[in-house]
Amino acid sequence: MSTSSECSYSYEDYKETADWLLANTDIRPKVAIICGSGLGGLADLLDNKKVFPYHKIPRFPQSTVQGHKGQLVFGELNGKQCVCMQGRFHFYEGYNIATVTYPVRVFFLLGIETLIVTNAAGGLNSKFKMGDIMLIKDHINMPGFAGQNPLCGRNEERFGVRFPCMSDAYDRDFARMARETAQELGCDSFLQEGVYCMLAGPCYETIAECRVLQILGADAVGMSTVPEVVVARHCGMRVFGLSLITNKVVTDYNSTEKANHEEVLGTTRMRTEDLQKLVSNLVAKIKGHRKSERKPRGHAGINHLYPFLEQGIH
Ligand code: HPA
Repeated sequence: MSTSSECSYSYEDYKETADWLLANTDIRPKVAIICGSGLGGLADLLDNKKVFPYHKIPRFPQSTVQGHKGQLVFGELNGKQCVCMQGRFHFYEGYNIATVTYPVRVFFLLGIETLIVTNAAGGLNSKFKMGDIMLIKDHINMPGFAGQNPLCGRNEERFGVRFPCMSDAYDRDFARMARETAQELGCDSFLQEGVYCMLAGPCYETIAECRVLQILGADAVGMSTVPEVVVARHCGMRVFGLSLITNKVVTDYNSTEKANHEEVLGTTRMRTEDLQKLVSNLVAKIKGHRKSERKPRGHAGINHLYPFLEQGIH
């Protein structure tokens, strides 16, 4: 499987998938939720479900992880129509970065306006505790630093502009609403806010790497989410993200602690209900997204005036 960052899909590929889904369900959600590892239970809460296993959806990437559900679940969460990805595609599984983000462009063509992302992450911030839920305020795209950005390659203007802005990646109004909702639900004692850093994985970080990430200003580290957010912002979706802090990373050479998958899964199980409650209450509060905001966004105007920007002479 190639891991080249060159986009290997055409607009027509995404369109074929979206049109097939639109033809096979009457549900027209405006909200999509990408469920992180162990957090897929959220999709089970949907009412009036219509479930599409990934392997039944034309051109949709296939799940490689045995025992993981790979399906799109359409339905109603707390009375609001939405679609959930139960099982995401991770870069560390060997997927091309364009494949990791394929569903997000399909969501755009389905008419999705708001993308909610959840993940499990290691806590880098010394104030964070296991089981905390972190509102993602911003991200560090470490694979992007190394050339693995899903927007590399020819730009498809029907999705968005060549040079999209990322300084407003995570919706601040939505984050305010999440803080209020957490307070209403009594979840505010374990609600945090911070910067999520994505590493490719699959190995957990060394002590030196964790120290570097702390110096860089990251509060949590994980192996997902950022490529999907970049693609969602490119096509003008509003994004909201939550990280469940499943473990504290090790930053002390005298420590005998070791990051491990069992601990990650254990914390996820412990907090999954709170996270589901928070997301479903938030979803119920989402109002329509202004149409003008959902257009491909960024510096479109400038690109028309300076066509050389489009050619990459920058
Ligand atoms: N590091 C990277 N990814 C993770 C971690 C971690 O400590 N915990 C959960 N996902």
